[in-house]
Parts: sequence; structure tokens; C-alpha cells
Amino acid sequence: MTVTLRPLLSLGLSAALMLPLAAQAAEPEDAIEYRQSALRVMAWQLGPMGDMAQGDIDYDEEEFATRARNLASVAHLPWEGFMEGTLRGDDHTAETDALAKIGDDWSGFEEKQETLKQEVATLARMVDDDEEFSALRRQVGAVGNSCKGCHDDFRAE
Ligand code: HEC
Repeated sequence: MTVTLRPLLSLGLSAALMLPLAAQAAEPEDAIEYRQSALRVMAWQLGPMGDMAQGDIDYDEEEFATRARNLASVAHLPWEGFMEGTLRGDDHTAETDALAKIGDDWSGFEEKQETLKQEVATLARMVDDDEEFSALRRQVGAVGNSCKGCHDDFRAE
């Protein structure tokens, strides 16, 4: 499994020195709480864009743009929390919907992460390019599908 180096590097620490220590120091329960929180951050940012796309609230260009950029900047965060020993059936005390299948098909799980990251990057780029709301709306749908695409395969009902 991969662990992103960015948080360590931003602390100015040597990744080579810190990575194994950090990986061992994190308790499964903490990693699970971390990733669930990061996933909720994404949902919070996506929510209003989904509501605008569905016409439940009025389209607000500025808010939409801010949400799109926020989502693009956090979409890489949850995944390092899927450490070894943190899935369903592993030896920990946390509640998790992360299926054991993630461990058996890690590359499939990574592909779903990539799809999400690409879709949110596209949305952020479209916002920067001042695209029409009709196009943005469709792209919100594509982002939502990339969430669902992973949940259908790798998250418990
Ligand atoms: C690569 C796979 C994947 C993608 C993509 C994905 N999720 Fe998830 N999501 C999961 C898994 C697995 C869980 C279960 C995590 C757990 O319980 O430990 C989950 C859980 C959640 C949760 C519940 C967190 C909690 O409090 O327990 C929310 C909210 C969520 N995802 C939102 C989203 C949103 C919004 C998107 C798209 C913007 C998204 N997810 C994309 C795999 C994914």
C-alpha cells in the first residue's frame, strides 16, 4: 500500500527517515477515523455543488468555484488512511465500511482513486475556464459517479 509523502515533507522531515516510523506509529483506529473524516470533508464540499446541479438551491458562481477548488485540493487526502490492518475483518476495534476486498484488489482501488482525482481536477479546471453552468452540472454528475463507482465495489452497504 502506498502512503503519501506530502504531509511529512511539508513538516521539513526526511521522508526516508520518517515514513516507516509514521506508518508504524499510526494505530488502525486513528487511520480509520482520519480517512472517514477526510471523506466527510469531500462530501461537505461536494454537497452544495450537487444541490446546485439538481436545482435544489440557486447556482452561485462564486460558491461553486470555491467548492470545486476545495474538492480538488483535498481529493488526494483520504487514501493514506487505508493502511494495512484497517479493513473490515482486520484486528481493530473501529467501525468501518471498508471491505476486505480493498486489500485483495489494491490496484482496482487505486484506479477508482485516480478516476475521482481526474474528475475533480477537470471540474476545477472548468471553473477556472469560466465554463457554463450546464457543463459544470454535467461534470458534478461525473464526480458523483466516481464516488459511487468506488462505493459500489469497495464500501459496505
Ligand atoms: C477509491 C474509493 C472511493 C472513492 C473514489 C470515494 N469513496 Fe467514499 N468511501 C470509500 C470507502 C472504502 C469508505 C468506507 C470508509 C470506512 O468506513 O472506513 C467510504 C466512505 C465514505 C463516507 C462515510 C465516511 C464516514 O463517516 O464513515 C463518505 C461521506 C464518503 N465516502 C464520501 C465520498 C465522496 C463524496 C466521494 C466522491 C467525491 C467519495 N466518497 C469517493 C471509498 C471511496
